[in-house]
Amino acid sequence: MSKSLIVDVAVATCDGPSPYGLIEDAAVAIEGDRIAWVGRRADLPAAHDDASETGFGGRLVTPGLIDCHTHLVFGGDRAREFELRLEGASYEEIARAGGGIMSTVTATRAAAEAELLKDALTRADALIAEGVTTLEVKSGYGLDRDTELTMLRVARRIAQERPVTVRTSFLGAHAVPADYSGRADTYLDEVCLPTLEAASAAGLVDAVDGFCEGIAFSPAQIARVFEAARALNLPVKLHAEQLSNLGGAALAASYKALSADHVEYLDEAGVAAMAAAGTVAVLLPGAFYTLRETQVPPVDLFRQHRVPLALATDCNPGSSPLASLLLALNMGCTLFRLTPEEALRGVTAHAARALGLGDRGTIAPGQRADLAVWSVSHPAELAYRIGFNALHRRVFGGVL
Ligand code: NIG
Ligand code: FE
Repeated sequence: MSKSLIVDVAVATCDGPSPYGLIEDAAVAIEGDRIAWVGRRADLPAAHDDASETGFGGRLVTPGLIDCHTHLVFGGDRAREFELRLEGASYEEIARAGGGIMSTVTATRAAAEAELLKDALTRADALIAEGVTTLEVKSGYGLDRDTELTMLRVARRIAQERPVTVRTSFLGAHAVPADYSGRADTYLDEVCLPTLEAASAAGLVDAVDGFCEGIAFSPAQIARVFEAARALNLPVKLHAEQLSNLGGAALAASYKALSADHVEYLDEAGVAAMAAAGTVAVLLPGAFYTLRETQVPPVDLFRQHRVPLALATDCNPGSSPLASLLLALNMGCTLFRLTPEEALRGVTAHAARALGLGDRGTIAPGQRADLAVWSVSHPAELAYRIGFNALHRRVFGGVL
């Protein structure tokens, strides 16, 4: 097994106590694809003396970043809707007029699989260049059996083409396609639920997601999707309380959801339900910013109830054309008043939890050796800078 040793670094383990689980004058020992030891260099056990050593000139090491909510695979773009919103149209008005998610569905159905992959890789590369080592990708722009399966296959291919872990979420309940307009339950029966079964049987699904909103699916309809997920033994998550409060997060919590995402309109009862279920709140400042939302998620309530906070790009062509997790960190602090430490834990330890992954997101013995080495002198710099990528080196599965 390969043995390597990283020295002359500070390490933000995102594991230990505040601030950042920080260890100064640190060393990280790696064996194979796992972290074998982390601590102060002076305390390094003799067992690691024979490892090949790399010094990083006093730089900062963090866990590899995790983008736990993306829609990275899609066809076309929605620049025209950006213009329409600047002329005064709202996101909901555009969606109700047949634009929005449905326009991306049309473009995604029309795109060749190779083209979807090429464009998804371009976006994945932007994330990877900022130290991302794990990313989640959703389906939900197909809304028919073949295109949903294609999207999930393309998502899996990203991990074959690039050094990154991909987790997939089936999002068949993202929007009601035009041919099922006004017949959402029939769409679930005839398309969404059978496609979920087929995708799961093909090994293409790690979790099941939905969009609970007036322009999408009701809580009762989402509950049907979650029942199907339960029958397949798949964990669930939900786009909830993005534009209004329908009780989606509490519904998700009642299914022990991994996460409830967006959650700007969540109330204290929903926060308490998430806390009791251990459901992570995934905050998506890119969508908040793009839609010029003014309702800020209830960050203080999440803190009071000890709900773990994660941050993600929500990279998608409509509400969040954002392919920078570092910018999401900055926006999380500036727009939602997260501390830089909450933001960093939100794209490491808590993002891992939002994906149900216990083997990453912190720097501790036994964890995957997914690391990012940064040319910064303090971890707060990662969130503080805007449009500046301080990544020096990325380590994926122990490979420097
Ligand atoms: O996370 N909220 C629903 N889904 C996406 C938006 C998708 C789109 O507008 O294309 C989101 O914001
Ligand atoms: Fe989303």
